[in-house]
Amino acid sequence: MQRGSNMPVARRKTRLFCMMIMLNICICVLMGVTWNLRRGNRSHQKVRIPSKRFWRTQILSESFWNKEQQRLDFLYNPIINSALSDDSLVVLPDWLNDTGPLNPCDPDYRVLTQISDYNSLPQRFQDFLLHMRCRTYSMLINQPHVCDEPPFLLLVVKSLIPHFDRRQAIRETWGRAGVLANRTVVTVFLLGSTLPLDNFPDLRIMLGHEAKLHNDLLQWDYRDSFFNLTLKEVLFLEWFSKHCPQAQYVLKGDDDVFVNTLRVIDLLEGLPDNKAKDLFIGDVISNAGPHRNQKLKYFIPESVFVGQYPPYAGGGGYLLSGELAIRLYNISQQVVLFPIDDVYTGMCLRKLGLAPTKHTGFKTFDIEKKYRSAPCIYRSLVLVHSRTPQEIIEIWPWIVNPELDCQ
Ligand SMILES: *[C@@H]1O[C@H](CO)[C@@H](O)[C@H](O)[C@H]1NC(C)=O
Ligand SMILES: *[C@@H]1O[C@H](CO)[C@@H](O)[C@H](O)[C@H]1NC(C)=O
Ligand SMILES: *[C@@H]1O[C@H](CO)[C@@H](O)[C@H](O)[C@H]1NC(C)=O
Ligand SMILES: *[C@@H]1O[C@H](CO)[C@@H](O)[C@H](O)[C@H]1NC(C)=O
Repeated sequence: MQRGSNMPVARRKTRLFCMMIMLNICICVLMGVTWNLRRGNRSHQKVRIPSKRFWRTQILSESFWNKEQQRLDFLYNPIINSALSDDSLVVLPDWLNDTGPLNPCDPDYRVLTQISDYNSLPQRFQDFLLHMRCRTYSMLINQPHVCDEPPFLLLVVKSLIPHFDRRQAIRETWGRAGVLANRTVVTVFLLGSTLPLDNFPDLRIMLGHEAKLHNDLLQWDYRDSFFNLTLKEVLFLEWFSKHCPQAQYVLKGDDDVFVNTLRVIDLLEGLPDNKAKDLFIGDVISNAGPHRNQKLKYFIPESVFVGQYPPYAGGGGYLLSGELAIRLYNISQQVVLFPIDDVYTGMCLRKLGLAPTKHTGFKTFDIEKKYRSAPCIYRSLVLVHSRTPQEIIEIWPWIVNPELDCQ
């Protein structure tokens, strides 16, 4: 029968046709996501439909970070992936080729040529870009057993080796490990390495003593610098997934914040299960984008990144569930490291389809000057930035002292 003999060809064609449509839809979705990232989160965006078939379309972005991210987006898209392995007729676009070094921890010298203004960028950018892909650094100090008894609350403090006094003030006050309000609290401090290259003194012996004395230091073998804070975040999430995955909640903060740990526990105890699972609260910044002024601390050149930032919680301090921390670790492998750590965490959250929730108790830009030494104010706050070790020690009794009458 004629129909019979034509069948396989027709089927093949239909199959191919369906595949093309599917792929095109995926690309539209991908482009939509990128478009949204660029445009911020206005709700009624039109998705642009590419006029050419996707593998003929030009690469969407000229900026290095965006380009790298587009590759990851494509590679981690499960629908496209299964279609690709299914049909050898589909040709991958050339821009998908990974032209970076085989070992992600070798310097990525492509940046010298692919980023047009590389040579005129501040040194910290050059350092960041060369090592952007490396996420594996060995641990110099670990505490693999701090969570043997899973805590209700894990306090995670980003610190720097020379800040001995800040860490000690935290241990004596809001970060005291043990039982508080009938809940178990564990505290760890996150450290990289301070190098002679950056004119740091050699404090390794003192650090060794501190680690033995308190068993609360985590240290990795990478250069501790502002642009490596994202690395600190990702390495912590990895550590958490391995050594503390049962912790119910995590509060992450700088070593110059004051935390009202009682208020934190109080806030968490009342949480219904459905809210607890996706909990991520802090001082949320929305509708922000990169600064283009070279002189600013947060300067990001267009050759590196274009687009708006997703809503993110200021890195001074935020509170999340342990479960979400593990999902963040998983998804972080699909997000290219970005030099600003709190923005990066916002990017990972967005990729999970979540957004941080604003809580007015997080004061990462401090409170009005006239209230700063008013004891009762601190009872209603969750976190304030910034406070010196002495201020932290002064404030803590205001929180826990039952004689202080705050109505
Ligand atoms: C990408 O890789 C394929 C083979 O994997 C090769 O044929 C093609 O030339 C490469 N494209 C570029 C731009 O390197
Ligand atoms: C303390 O917490 C445990 C569970 O963590 C609970 O069973 C116990 O009732 C609590 N005790 C008080 C006095 O609240
Ligand atoms: C981050 O740490 C790595 C490993 O020590 C180092 O090579 C790189 O230069 C650092 N990046 C920045 C921006 O300091
Ligand atoms: C994280 O990823 C691993 C493997 O990629 C998977 O087994 C695990 O279930 C994931 N966990 C979560 C919470 O998504």
